[in-house]
Amino acid sequence: MTDLTADDLADILAFHWEAGVDVAIGETAVDRFAESAAEPARARATTALSTPASAALAPPAEAPLSRSGPGPAPRGAAPPARSAPPAAAGGPAVLVTQPPDAAVMAAREAARGAASLEALRAILDGFDGCALKRTASRLVFADGNPQARVMFVGEAPGRDEDQQGLPFVGRSGKLLDLMLGAIGLDRTSAYIANVIPWRPPGNRTPTPQETAICLPFIARQIELANPDILVCLGGPSAQALLATTEGITKLRGRFMNYDTGTRTIRAIATFHPAYLLRTPLGKRFAWRDMLAVEAALKAE
Ligand code: URA
Repeated sequence: MTDLTADDLADILAFHWEAGVDVAIGETAVDRFAESAAEPARARATTALSTPASAALAPPAEAPLSRSGPGPAPRGAAPPARSAPPAAAGGPAVLVTQPPDAAVMAAREAARGAASLEALRAILDGFDGCALKRTASRLVFADGNPQARVMFVGEAPGRDEDQQGLPFVGRSGKLLDLMLGAIGLDRTSAYIANVIPWRPPGNRTPTPQETAICLPFIARQIELANPDILVCLGGPSAQALLATTEGITKLRGRFMNYDTGTRTIRAIATFHPAYLLRTPLGKRFAWRDMLAVEAALKAE
């Protein structure tokens, strides 16, 4: 390192900045995927020691496609807070050092306690169970009109979104605006959010555990916004929300049912705008998907 000149160091810094690595978080790299892989074994051991067999076999509380509930709620009428007591301001205190399992449970409880989108935003802002919050500049909750009939959900904020605190404001956001405009929508007639509300450092892929921790919050956000149509932008969003491992090329363009917890709505996946910027040939398929969204909105 001592052989490097100031110019060399400036070049290395510029290289990292260009690559999106603009957050210094530690001296040594952390293999979060290895951490995630180790966690299920630890969780299994804990469950076996502390849970009666019947409870251990019960389905998880948060299953996006299988939750059922009362009939449709009118638009704008907030679905009732679930049975868990509302979280205190800022949600339950959870240290980011807690096992991810505990953080997922705390996230479910906190999300259930949100009676409105404003309350959900406040609870998320105070939630410390996801390590991404420590490296992000701010929470990126939503943009657009929460009363809109259609909701778009991306993967996670990037650098521009992290700076402005709004989803899809960078290059891919500009393309999303064009996609909305192509079917007569804009941010006054669409609601926009992400599965992950904090920017992963250097735009790295969120780990499965980080996604699992954030999932109850976006599920509750969808339930509270109560759109008629849900559009998943890109594979990671579609896989997380539609509980599938299918790739986006196969998933896109097909309407599926999404149970918000209060009613069943129509959901469709399409290519992520960032992918379309890299792969313009995909735009013809995204165009078809947007036309399908337009037709579904007219038919509803
Ligand atoms: N990509 C996303 O998935 N979400 C954003 O908000 C920006 C880029």
